[in-house]
Amino acid sequence: MPKFDDPNYLNREQHFSDAGIYRISETHALVQTVDFFTPIVDDPYLFGQIAAANALSDVYAMGGKPLTALNIICFPTSCQPLEIMQTILRGGYDKVKEAGAVVVGGHSIEDPEPKYGLSVTGLVEIKRLISGSGACPGDLLVLTKPLGTGIINTAVKGEMIAEKEVDLVTGTMATLNAAASAAMLECGVLACTDITGFSLLGHLHEMLLSSSVSAELKFDQIPLFPRVKEMVSMGMIPGGAYRNLDYVLPHINWQGSADTKDDALIIMADPQTSGGLLAAVAPGKIESFLASLKTRKTLGEVIGRITEGPENKITIS
Ligand code: CO
Ligand code: CO
Repeated sequence: MPKFDDPNYLNREQHFSDAGIYRISETHALVQTVDFFTPIVDDPYLFGQIAAANALSDVYAMGGKPLTALNIICFPTSCQPLEIMQTILRGGYDKVKEAGAVVVGGHSIEDPEPKYGLSVTGLVEIKRLISGSGACPGDLLVLTKPLGTGIINTAVKGEMIAEKEVDLVTGTMATLNAAASAAMLECGVLACTDITGFSLLGHLHEMLLSSSVSAELKFDQIPLFPRVKEMVSMGMIPGGAYRNLDYVLPHINWQGSADTKDDALIIMADPQTSGGLLAAVAPGKIESFLASLKTRKTLGEVIGRITEGPENKITIS
């Protein structure tokens, strides 16, 4: 696609951005993003909550405040009860309300396969903008939610695990990244991306490319949902994980043991639904950032660090 070169389009140089930043005054910019997908849980209310938490995530990753949201819903009104659609929308409504934003409308279409998501607009103070291009050598990489939603959802669909057994996973997907974002703003964190469909490795790759740096990850330090390793060993792997891995593999330098390599890489390439934030934090700010996350009852695990670029390599041990 040809690029727009409007000077107010602040992240026009960023690679593969899923959200845009547009300057509206000397001090402020709009953050706009959209995401929607097919149901990943059977419970319609929970699906609505997860879709909304996921759609709001890019605004939080940039240090913005969500203002308004528009519903996007595809639903088979001719063969499914309308209450299901209403319940999905109610889940989204409640999550947007929790975020302090407002649902201002939306659009629906008849579709045999249900889909739901939102377009979200937020406001960000330009001097406090957090971007994917601000990572510096020496920064520590902090992840705020465990990995493995794609693998666990695949296992639920494959009837290897019952949906009610994975409350922790569905509850985490429905959790806003608001607290993690507030901790970043409080501690002056400058670089972050949210982890969604492009996986930990994909989104990290994107951050490294935009920042002209490399990174080191320690696989054993990455928080995982329970049973993720077991499900991977049983082949419960979403197709998207293979596609993500194919894409980033030329940039990976594996230094761990040969027998854990395949499973570890697949887990790190697992597409996440409403995943956590991956922040690059200056060493001088790490103590206060981890303390701030803890106060906000939010996970914060140091999983690696940023190293000198510009070769955009991810070294994993
Ligand atoms: Co997104
Ligand atoms: Co994103």
